[in-house]
Amino acid sequence: MDSKILIVDDDSLVREFIVETLERKGYYVDQADSGEQAIEMIGHAEYDLVITDLKMRQLSGMDVLKEVLEVQPDCRVMVITAFGTIENAVEAMKIGACDYITKPFTADELEILVERALDYKRLKEENLYLRKELVGSYSFDNLIGRSPSMMKIFELVKNIAASPSTVLISGETGTGKELVARAIHYNSNRAKEPFVKMNCAALPEGLIESELFGHEKGAFTGAIKTTKGRFEQANNGTLLLDEISEIPLSTQAKLLRVIQERELERLGSGQTIPLNVRLIATSNHDLKTEVKKGKFRDDLYFRLQVIPIDLPPLRERLEDIPLLCDYFLQKYCQREGVPLKTLSEKVKKLFMSYNWPGNIRELENYIERAVVISKSSELRVSDFPIEIAVGSSGLASVDTDVGQTIAEMEKRLIIKTLEANNWNKARTAEILGVTTRTLRNKLNEYRCQE
Ligand SMILES: Nc1ncnc2c1ncn2[C@@H]1O[C@H](COP(=O)(O)OP(=O)(O)OP(=O)(O)O)[C@@H](O)[C@H]1O
Ligand SMILES: [Mg+2]
Repeated sequence: MDSKILIVDDDSLVREFIVETLERKGYYVDQADSGEQAIEMIGHAEYDLVITDLKMRQLSGMDVLKEVLEVQPDCRVMVITAFGTIENAVEAMKIGACDYITKPFTADELEILVERALDYKRLKEENLYLRKELVGSYSFDNLIGRSPSMMKIFELVKNIAASPSTVLISGETGTGKELVARAIHYNSNRAKEPFVKMNCAALPEGLIESELFGHEKGAFTGAIKTTKGRFEQANNGTLLLDEISEIPLSTQAKLLRVIQERELERLGSGQTIPLNVRLIATSNHDLKTEVKKGKFRDDLYFRLQVIPIDLPPLRERLEDIPLLCDYFLQKYCQREGVPLKTLSEKVKKLFMSYNWPGNIRELENYIERAVVISKSSELRVSDFPIEIAVGSSGLASVDTDVGQTIAEMEKRLIIKTLEANNWNKARTAEILGVTTRTLRNKLNEYRCQE
């Protein structure tokens, strides 16, 4: 590995930690203890990556970033930021930093981000970037995320891909369960074999077994020809059983037997067929609760959750939001053939406080729609659904105290909603479910009171 990296930080402990970690990985590492020294070095040597702290005594990380962009535009820049100052990092990424890392970080996190930054550079240089995007709709790299919880999941996916063990992926709707399942398959040595998906929730009870295990001609009324089930179709590859909690109890027993014995019989046949299938199941209900309720067999549950992966909801990994926004903006602007659009500051802020019940799918849909509809280069609050503007769980909270009158309460609600909507009266009235005229009258009343 002959990538050359410059570390800029006035904190010698942080600097040494980074240098040590990266040298251990075989990178060639230089260091600077101030922005001034860094700028001097950038003028003399070429780097593939500069990792700079944002807050330093005199010249800041922003200055280093600007200098690199000017002098070595092909060099990537990653900024280091303290916990709670993500805004600065986002600012740096807007100017041109490729990524950011939040202090404190572990050696693992650092290694992954550095690898990613350099990979991107190399791929771009080799002009493979486009090809990778085509091939890679399902490849590991399409899983975007930089929060510690997601980075852990990436590592886990990498580590378990090769094994044939059963995986149980749980998480709310839209958190990326299917994407993770595909990443596991396409990173395993089964990648060239079939990846078969079956949505257990979409099938009527009577059909599930024949779908799973197949049937012989004449096995039941309507079985006009012999059909392979999903297990057989997935042989040597991976079978994804989506929404596994929807499988009826009677079928669960048969499923358990197939998993245990690694062979099956089609319905209406006495012949056993050996199976080599990697099974991945997903659920957006907590399966353990289903077990307690008697709706899911505990023995099947234990068989499935050999490797459990729990995808956290988006609201619990806010750090991923800026990155996902960038990714989706890029994806959809490219698709639409328009110059890259940005999000207004207000939108960015609202995105961070919204509670995202539909998780990443919801975010992706909103950005896609806004990119398609908006004509301007900056996407504003009005380009997004009103839920975003009214904040978490669809409602921004308004404090209520006993002793307050309903009129006072109403006034607070109106003002708060106006604030959340940039004092746009039409929108506020829509959210409050009153006419704009009523809203105007109320505001006039308040004015008279003051
Ligand atoms: N980490 C991620 N990076 C990029 N895109 C993501 C990520 N997670 C999810 N997505 C995108 O969000 C959408 C929903 O993901 P996916 O279908 O995997 O969710 P799911 O958990 O299976 O949802 P459901 O329970 O509703 O089936 C997809 O378009 C997917 O590409
Ligand atoms: Mg899914």
